[in-house]
Order: sequence, then C-alpha cells, then structure tokens
Amino acid sequence: MLRNKKIILGVCGGIAAYKAIELLRLLTKSGADVHVIMTRAAQEFVAPLTFQTLSSNPVHTELFNLIAEREIGHISLADRADLFIVAPATANIIGKIANGIADDMLTTTVMATKAPVLFAPAMNVNMFTNPIYQENEEKLRRLGYLFEAPISGNLACGWQGEGKLAAPEAIFESALAALTEKDLAGRTILITAGPTREEIDPVRYISNHSSGKMGYALARAARRRGAKVLLVSGPTALDKPCGVSVIAVTSASEMQSEVMAHVAKCDVVIKAAAVADYRPLARNLTKIKKSADSTTIELIKNPDILAGLGALDSGLMPRPFLVGFAAETDALAENAAKKLKEKNLDMIVANDVSQADAGFNVDTNRALLFFRDGSSSQCGLMSKDQLAGSILDHVVARLTQH
Ligand code: C5P
Repeated sequence: MLRNKKIILGVCGGIAAYKAIELLRLLTKSGADVHVIMTRAAQEFVAPLTFQTLSSNPVHTELFNLIAEREIGHISLADRADLFIVAPATANIIGKIANGIADDMLTTTVMATKAPVLFAPAMNVNMFTNPIYQENEEKLRRLGYLFEAPISGNLACGWQGEGKLAAPEAIFESALAALTEKDLAGRTILITAGPTREEIDPVRYISNHSSGKMGYALARAARRRGAKVLLVSGPTALDKPCGVSVIAVTSASEMQSEVMAHVAKCDVVIKAAAVADYRPLARNLTKIKKSADSTTIELIKNPDILAGLGALDSGLMPRPFLVGFAAETDALAENAAKKLKEKNLDMIVANDVSQADAGFNVDTNRALLFFRDGSSSQCGLMSKDQLAGSILDHVVARLTQH
C-alpha cells in the first residue's frame, strides 16, 4: 500500500521511542522507503543502528554532517518526502515547531517540508494537559498539521492518564489516510462483515467460515478515503478498525435490525457479511441432551437483509447505492448476475469460495464485479486490502450518477 512512498520518521526522546521500531516495521512491510531522523535525546533510548538496520537507510542525527551536507541533507530529505511522521513527538518538539524554532535536524526538516506532517504525541499526562502544550497543538492543527492523539493508560512515569503513544497500528492507519485522496468525504457508508451465528441452544449455534477480513478491509479503506463508516459486524477475531463505528451483532435478525436502524443516513451499503440463510425454528432454552442416534433441527428462513434494502421504496426514502457479495462454489457469473437482478442491486462482488486462495478465511481474493448496467470487471488474485480499493474505486465512479 505504500510502495514508492518516501516517508520520514522523526523519533524524539521519550520512553515510547522503542514503539517507533514497530511503526517502522509496519511502514517498511507496506513497501515504504523510510528515512529516520533521531533527536539527540531519542538516541539515549534506542540506538540509531536499530532504525538503520530495519529501514535499510542511514539514520540522520546531525544537522551539520559533512557528507550529507554535500546535498544540504535536511532540505533534500524534506523535498523528497511524501509524508513526515513524528512518533513519539515530545512536548518539546511540538513546542519548538509551533514557535518556529529549527535548531536540529528534525525541527529543521519538518519546517522545510511541504509534505503532510503527522504528529503522534507521547508525554506525561500533566505535560499533555498543560495549556501551553495544548495551545501549541491547537496552533499546529489550525495550520493543517495532523495528529494521532495519545491514549489513556499507565504512563512510564508512574502517572495514569492521557499521554501514552497511540498504538503503532493506529499511527500507521493515519499515515495511510494522510496519503489517500478523500474521494468519499461527506459520504456515510454502512458495511456488514463476518458471519452470523444462529443459536440452537445456550451452547450451540449454526454459522459459517467467514472471517470478516473482506468487510474489515472495506471499512478501513472507506475511512481512509474520508467516509464516515458504520461497520455492522458479526462475531470475528479481528481488531476494531481505527476511526470506524463498530456495531457488534450475533444473529441475522440482529444484523437486520441494526442495518435498518441506520440505512436512512447512508449513501452506500456494502453487504460483505456471510449471513446465515436459515436459523433454528426454536431456540432451546436449555442444553439439548444427547440421547437418540440421530436428531433433526427444524430450520426457518432468515430475512434477506439485502433484498429488503433493494426493495425499499425510493419515493419514501433515498435508496443507498447497494453492493452485494456472492460467495459461490459453482456457476459464479450466472448466479451473481441473477442475484444482482433479483435483489435489485447496483453492484455485486462475486467470488469463487471453492478456491483455496479466495473467499473465506484467507488474506487474498479474486473477484468478478457485475454492475446494474450489465457491465462487468475482473479483479485477479490480490490482497483483500487491494480488492477493497478496487471495489471502492467502482463505487466512487458510479456514486455521482446514482
Ligand atoms: O443470496 P446470497 O446469500 O448468496 O446473497 C449474498 C448477499 O446477500 C451478500 O451480500 C449477503 O450479505 C446478503 N444477504 C443478506 N441477508 C441474507 C442473506 C444474504 O443480506 N439473509
């Protein structure tokens, strides 16, 4: 996701400096070319060699370095950067930059760059709540600098409260957002993800192999592109995506209630969830005992949430742009095209779940996209993050005519 992106990672002197190593790893793993600048204090906490080894680039520590100065080091770094991240950012560095002081390699390069700058502050809670710090942060925000706010927790200094560096994953997510065009700004998107569970008795249920990965990838991608995202999720083992409102549900009926409660304010609904088609006719209040050699559970059809949305009367309520998924094991194209028509959708993402590298519970997918106007588009084998990007490209392109 960050291939061909040049990122400067500024590391300041705080105990959280060690967490910048994890952030560096996430950035390089995503393909970014990362150049690290460390303040003098940061080098007291972590050795530059660690960052040098993991970034495969020399670490910059001195403003006046005879070798680098041949090309005026801080200016050439500042000019070539796509994004500047300062993590952890101390009260000191934020105070200096807010007041125009550029007296070392890091502050000078931040002042010289035209790239977006993302600060991830970390400090003692009393420093964080100090009005001087707050005023400096406010000034930088006003000027367009980005912030990934610290979180509350036990601080290394023994205090408890706000000031803990945001999780490296959250900073990484904000870095991706900072580099993404906001073509979904002002839009509200509801995405459903994961399986549903239909209870048989207090200890058993019917479900399927959906991991939720595709829906969560869509939620992250939509948020990066500026959308307000509501993620209605069945039970999954995935981390809650940053900046997304997650509504946890268990059964298809619960999913239906939540979708219907929020649909009126949505521009787009993407139904990536693998909703169980049937549920037990009656849920046993106590655990069903083992006795006979065979047993039968009577099932009743669940409401088709997506078909219900497709049938909404657009005269009463503006109908959102509807995207369905079709997980098939055979006759992929025919089944998907039929579902698109029957459920009155704008777009359907069809994937062959009989293949080991696509569909349920894997990180990759390959899909065929069909549209209301009869056109289609093929997405070859790619990561679910990449497929989420392609799906949203098509949504954005068609949303204006919706
Ligand atoms: O008909 P089928 O279950 O294959 O359709 C799949 C699509 O319909 C998915 O987008 C799924 O989220 C949605 N669906 C639904 N409610 C159901 C069953 C499926 O919204 N009860």
